[in-house]
Parts: sequence; structure tokens; C-alpha cells
Amino acid sequence: MSLKSKVIIVTGGTSGIGEACSRHFARLGAKVVAASIQRKEGRTLAKVHGVHFVHADVSDEKSVQSLVSRTLELHGRIDALVSNAGVLRMGPVSEFDEAMWDAVMGVNVKGNLWLAKHVAPVMKGQGRGVICITTSVAAFVGFPNHTLYCASKGALEALVRSLAVELAGYARVVGVCPGTIDTPMLASSCKGWAKPVAEIYAEVEKKIPVRRLGTPLDMARAIAFLISDEAAYINATCLVMDGGTLALPPW
Ligand SMILES: NC(=O)c1ccc[n+]([C@@H]2O[C@H](COP(=O)([O-])OP(=O)(O)OC[C@H]3O[C@@H](n4cnc5c(N)ncnc54)[C@H](O)[C@@H]3O)[C@@H](O)[C@H]2O)c1
Repeated sequence: MSLKSKVIIVTGGTSGIGEACSRHFARLGAKVVAASIQRKEGRTLAKVHGVHFVHADVSDEKSVQSLVSRTLELHGRIDALVSNAGVLRMGPVSEFDEAMWDAVMGVNVKGNLWLAKHVAPVMKGQGRGVICITTSVAAFVGFPNHTLYCASKGALEALVRSLAVELAGYARVVGVCPGTIDTPMLASSCKGWAKPVAEIYAEVEKKIPVRRLGTPLDMARAIAFLISDEAAYINATCLVMDGGTLALPPW
């Protein structure tokens, strides 16, 4: 499996799963453009791991346009988009307001549409490309106090299928559907619990069939395969990577 010299945009590429992707793809010889709203982390990543950092807010169309233009200026093409940036907001549905809707739907759903809108014509011109969108098991599991996040990830499962059919003939569109992955986002979801994070993780690990949390590198390795030419016949589908959690019986 090779990503050598492939030009890959990774959104949310400076933290958690996205950071692992940026670093892993760079190690495999890819030309990585990591995009996020984290300037400091981006600078460090660029200095230490040889990826190019572009500050971009995926919920803002102009920012996405600049990211795509900058990538083309730097490398002249886009072989893969790893559309991974995401945000989580939790709370009872009765407390949701428009700001939360705008934050979650703005990044998780609108962000993916802006990226597809501006990357697809580039891939059409090249006659090839891959888009890999990070969804979540939250698209299938009814996590309490996560309604907006779950709805946003459900939308992405549909977006993968629809885009794959629309971009047929020149781009593959796939998704990855992580379970419980040890990242800053997961830690933030434990806020407000009476127990320390380590204790919560230990309890969760006992339930996961592989008996551990996923690591960002687990995700990056699988995404590397999905965007490589070796996965050329995988299209319009999402790969669940949850250590077997979705298979658990509901009792
Ligand atoms: N960690 C998990 O257990 C888990 C499970 C399922 C799905 N996911 C999904 O995986 C993806 C990565 O999550 P993570 O756990 O690594 O989280 P994380 O919080 O560590 O990283 C999220 C990244 O998204 C970036 N981001 C946020 N808003 C942005 C914006 N407006 N524009 C550009 N970048 C923005 C952040 O800067 C950060 O780099 C997300 O889509 C998340 O929903 C995570």
C-alpha cells in the first residue's frame, strides 16, 4: 500500500484522529496539507513532521476555497481529501439553541458540503480522486444528550452515498465510522461526570470486544488504506472501526 507523493488534505489535521493521519501519511511519503483552526498546533506539526499547515475554518466557504487554492498552488493537484474536522456539543435537547445548531451542523455537515463543492471540480479535472469523510457510530447509536451530534453524523452517512453516486467515474467517496477513540474530543465528552476520565475509560474498555479504546493511529492506518489505490473498488460505504462495539447485544 502506498501513499508516496500523493497530495492529501486532512481537515482537523492538527488534533486527535486528524493529527495522526497527518503524521502517518507524511511518514508514508505523502504531501500532506493539514487544515484546522489550531494555529499553534499547526505550526508545531509543520515544523516537526514536515506537513504543510493551512489555517481554515471548514464552516466558512471562503476559507475552504482558500484551502483548496493554496493546496493547488503548493502541489498542483489533490489526490485525496480526508474530511475529518468535527465538533461535539452535548446537552439535553430542551437546552439546544441556534448557536449550538450552527456550531455542530456548520462544521460537521456544512463543512463537508463546502469541501466537496470545491474539491470535486479539481478531482473531475484530474479524472481521479478520493474523498474520505469521518462519520461516527453516533450515526447509529442513540447516545443520550448527543442528539445534534448524532443527527449531524447520520447526515454524513447519507452524504457519502450521495456524493459517491454524483462523482461517479472520477472520484471515490468513502467514510470512516470511529467508535471510542482516545482523543481530546473523547476526553471533552467526559466533562461533568463525577468520575475521573481514566476510570470512565477503564469501564468503557471492559465493554469493547477488543478490550481497549481505539487510538488515533488505528484510524490513520485504516484511512491510509481506504484512500490508497489498493482500495480502488471500495466506494459509497463507511468502514466501522469500533473494536466490535456495534455488535454488542443491547442487554
Ligand atoms: N474521538 C472519538 O471517539 C470519535 C468517535 C467518532 C467520530 N469521531 C470524529 O472524528 C473526527 C475527529 O475527532 P477527534 O476525536 O480527533 O477530535 P479532536 O477534537 O481531537 O479534533 C478535531 C479537529 O477538528 C478541528 N476543527 C474543529 N472545528 C473546525 C473548523 N470549524 N474548521 C476546521 N477545523 C476544525 C479541530 O481544530 C481539531 O483539529 C471528528 O469528525 C469526530 O466527530 C471521533
